[in-house]
Amino acid sequence: MSEEIIYQSIMKAEEAEKKAPEVYGVPSGIEGLDELFFTVEVVDGKPQKRPLGGIPSYSVMNITGISDTGKSLMAEQFAVKQASRGEKVLFVTVETPANYVVNSLRARAIAMGFNWDELKDNILLLDAASYHRLRENIPNLLATLAHVYKTYKVKFTVIDSITGLFEQKEMTARTIVRQVYNFLKKWYQTAILVSQKRSGHEELTAEAAGGYAVGHIVDGTIVLAKQIITTSFQSKLYKKPIGELVRLFRIDGCRVSGHDTRTYLMEITETGLVKILKPLSELVKNL
Ligand SMILES: Nc1ncnc2c1ncn2[C@@H]1O[C@H](COP(=O)(O)OP(=O)(O)OP(=O)(O)O)[C@@H](O)[C@H]1O
Ligand SMILES: [Mg+2]
Repeated sequence: MSEEIIYQSIMKAEEAEKKAPEVYGVPSGIEGLDELFFTVEVVDGKPQKRPLGGIPSYSVMNITGISDTGKSLMAEQFAVKQASRGEKVLFVTVETPANYVVNSLRARAIAMGFNWDELKDNILLLDAASYHRLRENIPNLLATLAHVYKTYKVKFTVIDSITGLFEQKEMTARTIVRQVYNFLKKWYQTAILVSQKRSGHEELTAEAAGGYAVGHIVDGTIVLAKQIITTSFQSKLYKKPIGELVRLFRIDGCRVSGHDTRTYLMEITETGLVKILKPLSELVKNL
């Protein structure tokens, strides 16, 4: 086999810059999250932090955590928020059939104070839970996505969950995540991928998330965790009795913008909305 020089892959920084998408904040619909991403700008000759006011545009973010940590709720809030801003969003559902997911999306919209009937036209669902020809066949999935992007001018994509695309095929996880990631980049999507964390080990890092693959490929990872209070120290820290649950949140890396690195207390409200509360470092100060 003779080697081939791929001339198209070589470019000057100046040429690449012309095609570089602008990084701005996309409001996430999750209270307390948008302030945690920032860019660095030069003001009076000095680099300074400027809040993005959302997740970085054109990024593919991974939300990971074990079961029942609020991943789907966050993904739904993100989708509803985009629709409420008049943006077209595609929700790819891999585990729950679309007719059930739509109930959840409606519930999220109501809880967020939006008029569902006014925003629902901006939401498209792709039912990979019911159609195994999508779930089990990545070329079919990508062709269908391309059709949706072309036809409906969608700029935002949610996949819940990416892990569902390689169930029983853990060996192919990396390839599948890479294909989907490259595809979302090609179509300039700002995307949320949900991935299931296999164990509570290293619970606030992307470790063990989606077959060890997702974290290395995507632009950034958000980790959600839950802890049962078992010691009197924890009980004092969180001001909750032993045996109760606390929810935690952390941004475990983001390549496309600066971000807060602290661990935050998180809440799921009675109406089913995820909210980011205080950093744990502040709770310790009050002890
Ligand atoms: N409408 C609601 N009202 C109140 N709490 C809710 C509501 N919906 C979900 N919750 C709470 O939020 C938790 C997290 O839900 P979510 O579906 O987002 O979990 P998940 O991280 O996606 O889990 P999985 O990996 O199993 O899909 C639920 O277990 C429940 O306790
Ligand atoms: Mg879920």
